[in-house]
Amino acid sequence: MRSLASSARSFLTPAPAARSFSLLALSSGLAAGYLPCAAEKAPSGQPLPLPLAPAKAMRAAIMLTNLKAQPADALLALIKLHNDDPRAGKIDLGVGVYRTGQGDTPVFGAIKAAEQRLLETQNSKAYLGPEGDMGFVHALMPYVFGTADPMTKEILGAGRIEGMQTPGGTGAVRLALALAKQAGVSRVFMGTPSWPNHAQIMNDLGLTLQGFAHNTTGGVVDMEALKDALAEAGPGDAVLLHGCCHNPTGIDYSPSQWDEIAPLLAKSGALPLLDLAYQGLGHGMEEDAYGVRRVLAEVPEAIVAYSCDKNFGLYRDRVGAVYVMMAEADQLAAVLSNGHALARAAWSMPPDHGAAAVRLILEDPKLVALWLDELDTMRERMRQVRAKLAAAGSAGKVDLTPMGGQNGLFSIVPLTGEQIMAMREKHGVYMAGSGRINVAGLTMGNIDQFIAAVADVTA
Ligand code: LMR
Repeated sequence: MRSLASSARSFLTPAPAARSFSLLALSSGLAAGYLPCAAEKAPSGQPLPLPLAPAKAMRAAIMLTNLKAQPADALLALIKLHNDDPRAGKIDLGVGVYRTGQGDTPVFGAIKAAEQRLLETQNSKAYLGPEGDMGFVHALMPYVFGTADPMTKEILGAGRIEGMQTPGGTGAVRLALALAKQAGVSRVFMGTPSWPNHAQIMNDLGLTLQGFAHNTTGGVVDMEALKDALAEAGPGDAVLLHGCCHNPTGIDYSPSQWDEIAPLLAKSGALPLLDLAYQGLGHGMEEDAYGVRRVLAEVPEAIVAYSCDKNFGLYRDRVGAVYVMMAEADQLAAVLSNGHALARAAWSMPPDHGAAAVRLILEDPKLVALWLDELDTMRERMRQVRAKLAAAGSAGKVDLTPMGGQNGLFSIVPLTGEQIMAMREKHGVYMAGSGRINVAGLTMGNIDQFIAAVADVTA
């Protein structure tokens, strides 16, 4: 296989020195570089056939012109739009990154310390394997699943959960959905609105999205819609739920709602896919894990997609993990082997640096304390912003009070497309087309300007 692949490669990109000869040879119907080398023989001993006739190759060369231009990812495009805006008072409420009261997204002190240690102690960058850094994967587990939590300690004790590292939360969601598909799932129930990439990944994998309303127009969870969905879902389906800090609404299930959801999920027979991308940004590391742990306590099998991109501030380093829980510990190896094969075909192995830094933090109680302290500061600041929005009451026709009780980085401001454009063009306020704002983009210095802008565009 390998020699065939390399012969195809040399055919597509002949070495510069061979190029003039290739052109010459074309006229006689033989292109140099198209011929397999002498060593390339089929197992039968017969020489391998020529990969492609030159005429066909020339037709194939125009295949890429069939591709239609695609719009840039709407969320990621906002980063550039905001950067290109020369106005001094512009406000970036677009992509989900935490910002300090000064508007910065600094590297965590705990990460800096771990990186320093990594620099001094790491003695190899040799490949690890498709599962990535298993020290990282295991060190994170007590925080996600809770070794002392009565809901999950037996599951952990019985070794019923295992995981692997992924490139960020997106890699984790991608792998979770690909595993579900490989296991026979074709339809995924998910509350909408949701993180736009959820639907994009499902579409890319050929999975059918069965949407239901995540929240009511009154800004609370639509439990009836979820219950109807769970009554319809069955074996062969998956149900994707956000563990905490719902993206884009900030509207989460309360613990008592999770208490209702978990048995209904179990009764449905559908596979739970739990996306936990913001643990610690809502109410705390333990509190934000309630839903995931409650579901795991009730069902025989589940997949958890995890991101460290936000709670360790490692966005561009892409640090995530996917965890699988099975009814019996000895069923895990087969499932994980599918995960490894899918990863190998997609990205081979995840980037190491960020995960290694997280592992070093989690192995050192002093760095853990520093990290948790930094996380508390982030959460506290977002709570202050939310409290200030809620205290404002309303901005023009928009009621801001529900934002006080919502969680994490995001909330929806119910504006029309036109109003969102006016926020951008007239006021330099950049928010997603869904009306989603990153509340961490607001500071005590710009929040009044934001409220006034919302009032203006809804007047
Ligand atoms: C977001 O929703 O803004 C973040 O999760 C970043 C992303 O990848 O979309």
